[in-house]
Amino acid sequence: MGVTFVRKVYTDAVGVSRAAAERIVLLAQQRALDAGRCAIALSGGKTPAATYALLAAEPLAQQMPWAKTKIYFGDERHVPHDHPDSNYRMVSEALLTKTTLPSENVFPVPTDHEDVAVCAEWYEDLLRLHFQRSSDVLPHLDLVLLGIGPDGHIASLFAGTSAAAERKRWVTWCDASSADPTITAAVKRITVTAPVIWGAADVFVLATGAAKAAAVAMVTQDAEPADPPVARMLRQCQGVVTFFLDKAAAGAS
Ligand code: 6PG
Repeated sequence: MGVTFVRKVYTDAVGVSRAAAERIVLLAQQRALDAGRCAIALSGGKTPAATYALLAAEPLAQQMPWAKTKIYFGDERHVPHDHPDSNYRMVSEALLTKTTLPSENVFPVPTDHEDVAVCAEWYEDLLRLHFQRSSDVLPHLDLVLLGIGPDGHIASLFAGTSAAAERKRWVTWCDASSADPTITAAVKRITVTAPVIWGAADVFVLATGAAKAAAVAMVTQDAEPADPPVARMLRQCQGVVTFFLDKAAAGAS
């Protein structure tokens, strides 16, 4: 069965953040009811921060089944967790420190080994411990939340890197600056790979601003682009991929 793409377009970034936060609550409530837990891999970057802030505030904060919610990370920069570039720090400030989410439900990417490859191996071990069911090749997180770069990268899967091509490991690493000299936070990164994104029941992609429009279009259009962005791998997802877009990112006038 092919992937199901859903495009939701909102007037502005506020609409995107609110809609994404509300959908996360509904999804978490349903999974907590059906399966007794909701495993969510959060994204870094700037776009999702407003969504996290909404989840940490009333009325959504009290609607989230925090005790049954497990938080993972789609990628992380190879910096200390208190570093300004740390995704954990951003999520912690926007969400984790402001809710009743038990700390034992949060699984940050370890970044405290000097060798980034070891950090990736450690996180892979954790994900396999939590999600490796006997014959399953893909881990089944309930939700993977993603941003998307103007170049069409997702998580830290940058074009031309072995990370973007990885199809067996669940976690790997890349040197973002070698992949894209213009990238902010030009540090080595630990990232989940395509199999983790493909196996998720739901994938949410948040994109705002005209700079993302071309990448979004090259993912959602049926015709195969001449130079497909990394995010086109979303078309092999087993679950539902929902794009939360403002008009600019949707290419709407
Ligand atoms: C990161 C993210 C990265 C981000 C995109 C979009 O760690 O930075 O994983 O993939 O989602 O680069 O970033 P913005 O939301 O800041 O535009």
